[in-house]
Amino acid sequence: MTNIAMIGFGGVGQALVEILQEKRESLSNRHGLETKIVAVADLMKGAVYDKNGLDIEVLLECVRKDDSVETYPDGPDVVKGMSSIDTIERTNAEMIVEVTFTDVQTGEPAITHCKRAFASGKSVVTTNKGPVALAYKQLKALAEENGVFFGFEGTVMSGTPALRMPEETLAGNEITRISGILNGTTNYILTEMEQGKSYGEALEQAQSYGYAEADPTNDVEGYDARYKVAILANYLMDTPLDYKEVTVEGISGMTVESVKEALQNRQKWKLIGKVERQEDGSVVGSVQPERIDETHPLAGVNGATNAILYECDLLGPVLLTGAGAGRKETGFSLLIDLIHYQKERKLQTS
Ligand code: HSE
Repeated sequence: MTNIAMIGFGGVGQALVEILQEKRESLSNRHGLETKIVAVADLMKGAVYDKNGLDIEVLLECVRKDDSVETYPDGPDVVKGMSSIDTIERTNAEMIVEVTFTDVQTGEPAITHCKRAFASGKSVVTTNKGPVALAYKQLKALAEENGVFFGFEGTVMSGTPALRMPEETLAGNEITRISGILNGTTNYILTEMEQGKSYGEALEQAQSYGYAEADPTNDVEGYDARYKVAILANYLMDTPLDYKEVTVEGISGMTVESVKEALQNRQKWKLIGKVERQEDGSVVGSVQPERIDETHPLAGVNGATNAILYECDLLGPVLLTGAGAGRKETGFSLLIDLIHYQKERKLQTS
């Protein structure tokens, strides 16, 4: 049984808990994954802990009805109002699901949460980009030192396996270049502009569908994709790359005329994030709008869908495409990390 503490309980955290509940039987039968949510701590919704496990249906009902977890019924072992740090360090959770609202520029509070969890011998799965883009090496070393698991599949392309697929299934290849459509909001805007919508109208629609970040500047100016490029370099190319070294240009200057003019020439504008190995072994990263031929593998990727192209020395180009955002899709990224955690744990004990 894996005892889980949820640090942050917004849409993605709730989606994970719903999935764990809906798929309880098959997760146990097929993957040996049995979980108990013992604690939730959220800055806005409060905190609740029961060492015996919380009743999921009741917990979700409290959030839906009251937007708080502190209306959860009292009980002999129910403790309310603990801080996030206390929840990480002092509950009987062995797995911390870190899905707080984090400032990606500082990576906080997620970086501190990861550090405190690892130092307490607890594992972490997270969808927050900050810890991986800003402090991957340090956090990886800390997790290893403490013999715990660090999962972050959802930081790039939500549950689409942009990190684990190349790391595991393409292992043995040297990946020399990665390029992709790493931001759904901007791809959605560009696709809508091809149909004649103005930039402003398309952005508004992307916000209403929930694709955009809280501050859409992060999407349209390419900053979100820049963090993802840094994660790809650090994790998949094993080469430190500060996100500030990734050159960035967004799509806010794009006009319907230039999008249409490209289409007439059988080309498309796409915001491409790229990381490339140089001859001296270093890597160079960039995010910029690129005009690509309609025959290019990334040209047919429309709407909020993401895609990533890995150039491998043995296998050649490999294209992976799928969701890049969404409540359930990102909730699934946490689930797949938990399944891998379970697999590793089983290997260690067998
Ligand atoms: N705002 C992001 C996007 C979502 O549009 O792709 C997840 O990073």
